[in-house]
Amino acid sequence: MFINKDFFDSKNIHEGSFIVESPSNIALIKYWGKYGVQLPCNPSISITLNNAKTIAKISFERKNKSDDKLDLDFYFEGSHNEKFREKIEKFFLDMKDFFPFVFDFKFRIDSSNTFPHSSGIASSASSMSAFASSLVEIEKRLSESQYGDEYYVSKASFAARIGSGSACRSLYPKMAVWGDSQDVDASTNDFAVIYKDFDLKFEGIKDSIAIVSAKEKAVSSRAGHALMNNHPFREVRFSNARKNLHDLLMALREGDFEAFTNIVESEALELHGLMMNSNPSFILMEPNTLEIIFKIRKYRNETGHPICFTLDAGPNVHILYLKSHESEILKFLESDIRPLCANQIIIHDEMGMGTNVKNS
Ligand code: PMV
Repeated sequence: MFINKDFFDSKNIHEGSFIVESPSNIALIKYWGKYGVQLPCNPSISITLNNAKTIAKISFERKNKSDDKLDLDFYFEGSHNEKFREKIEKFFLDMKDFFPFVFDFKFRIDSSNTFPHSSGIASSASSMSAFASSLVEIEKRLSESQYGDEYYVSKASFAARIGSGSACRSLYPKMAVWGDSQDVDASTNDFAVIYKDFDLKFEGIKDSIAIVSAKEKAVSSRAGHALMNNHPFREVRFSNARKNLHDLLMALREGDFEAFTNIVESEALELHGLMMNSNPSFILMEPNTLEIIFKIRKYRNETGHPICFTLDAGPNVHILYLKSHESEILKFLESDIRPLCANQIIIHDEMGMGTNVKNS
């Protein structure tokens, strides 16, 4: 799959450059537990974000003579970054069967993120989706044959998945589903697909991220997924995730924010519950994570406004709310939530349009 048999690099293109912008995403139904080459044990669904993005300029130039060495220069926010370079080099090497031209060119990547490095927001989804799209963009430019949009985006999502699982969902506008599910046509474990079947009410949904701690993650994503291998609740979790996805899709279709809240909050707490019950056990929430959760629930009970929370594998709280109530909810965030945040940081984000490539 995705080994492009029609690919002939015969156009004799010597060099090129472009800019790729790719966002992060926040899962509503979580991917936690994997097998094989980054394949998910259950399907997940996410909202594509808009403001938290990686922006990278990719330049490529044909080598005088092709060899079996990867030639890649990597700059992060203007400086050489060896640690990131090695990561991307490994990714390009992992991709060599799918993009055989990687040894024919010298690459230079100048990358930056729109969100602060020390904000506790993981950059792997935005960066890996950006670099995966770059490989597909170069393939398209070199390719003689017609290159369909659907092939482009699914190959980019497939490559992003191998780079960093959840990154495969960042390619698509608005919402994406990754993983085999009877409830979503054409869904597969290999790459994510767009999900469009939601009520207008959810269009442009907001995600304000309350930064409780900007420290490095206490448990890496790889170690976290591995905790599911022998987890006592493994099978229960995977069947819950499937049921939750089924119910959430119904809530999205029907515009039922109450049902949406119940499922999304329960998913977030289940993810953290799984970590607390694993061996070794991890508690990734901090006192202010809980404080913020209590405040959100109290505010919702008192006002009836459409607001709820979700969590990633860390202490920061993603506060989701409908656009229709933005101005009242922003006041609540300022008065009640901002004081509980590390350095008073809240990052305001919202549903976005996915990866985008333009000429530099
Ligand atoms: O893509 P990874 O390997 O960083 O795993 C992401 C896992 C969660 O963020 C906790 C959930 C998800 O589906 O995004």
